[in-house]
Amino acid sequence: MSDLETAETESELSLFKYDHLAQLPEEYQSLSQEERHNRIQSALDGLGDDVVVLGHNYQRQEIVEHADFVGDSYELSKKAASADAPYVVFCGVTFMAESADIITDDSQNVLLPSIEASCPMAGMAEAIQVDAAWEQLAAAAPERNIIPITYMNSYADLKAFTAENGGAVCTSSNAKNVFEWALSKGDAVLFMPDKHLGRNTAYQLGLEEEITVFDPWNPEATDMSELASAKIILWDGYCQVHDRFQAKHIAEVREKHPNAQVVVHPECRREVVEAADVVGSTSTIRNTVSTADPGETWAIGTEVHLAKHLDRWHSDVNVVPLCGDACMDCNAMRQIDPNYLTWILEELQQDTVHNVIDVPKDTSNEAELALDRMLELTG
Ligand code: 13P
Ligand code: SF4
Repeated sequence: MSDLETAETESELSLFKYDHLAQLPEEYQSLSQEERHNRIQSALDGLGDDVVVLGHNYQRQEIVEHADFVGDSYELSKKAASADAPYVVFCGVTFMAESADIITDDSQNVLLPSIEASCPMAGMAEAIQVDAAWEQLAAAAPERNIIPITYMNSYADLKAFTAENGGAVCTSSNAKNVFEWALSKGDAVLFMPDKHLGRNTAYQLGLEEEITVFDPWNPEATDMSELASAKIILWDGYCQVHDRFQAKHIAEVREKHPNAQVVVHPECRREVVEAADVVGSTSTIRNTVSTADPGETWAIGTEVHLAKHLDRWHSDVNVVPLCGDACMDCNAMRQIDPNYLTWILEELQQDTVHNVIDVPKDTSNEAELALDRMLELTG
């Protein structure tokens, strides 16, 4: 039996932006691990320079072993920008593939192996909701210049909205720079969709007294006077994987491993970030462990596949997941099953191109401005 979790299920997610994406054909649903490894490798050998495979740090081992580059969202967007292959196979989630499509040339195609790889947090800020919130903000403080900042974990239409309103995109590795830029231009920031990253960034800037949270599902509950005066307005979204970590997990790990150090992603709650030793993007987490001295113990507060990679890649470091068996994998990232990768590459070899992520031109042009601003700000 294959370990394919998703092939037979009809999608119930409302997050799909691309209804032409195909599901996995029957004959690919029960390949053995060895067979798919060999077939992926042979397809890649045959395709040569026509394809580049990008993989996010959260992808499973059977995917990262075939990727030309594995990195965090920021690094992957830079790799996509410099890729010259006609096909970029993006092993990540929909919003990442969209950003790659926006950044690459029109002649290049970005392929997302699985239809179901949609990040739930990106779906927490729909452009239509944001339009309504923007009006509410304008009504609350008509004289203020509010700059929208959108986390990379968002759909292209929200990135386009951000550019139209003078804002920029950021990732977890450059949020501080982008906040500083926005506050040098305007009176306040509206940050979407991750309230935890937004709060953690505001603390980095010493703006902890200046935060308010806007609940898009209950906008009437918003205190208009706070909205009118806060410097940092946070959209009430979050990542289920990172929201799960609690400060007590850090206390428990320190009790069990007295010399343990803790590294967490900034999508974690404030109290978790405060109790950690290091906080940063998935690549910062990788670098922290790869530069650790032999014998050190590091507890990893992020998606569990990255913790597993680090354990495998650095046998001289004691790597433990921060909340043990309760640590989650990302359900969206997990959809990039190696059977899908086998299928998409073999089809490509036969000149059949599936699952192209093609952001509509007007959205793409606007969204590119917001992404370019980020790339300019952070090099
Ligand atoms: P990074 O930008 O740190 O790779 O994070 C992406 C992500 O989805 C974290 O949940
Ligand atoms: Fe989205 Fe969280 Fe998965 Fe990252 S880990 S892709 S934010 S659901």
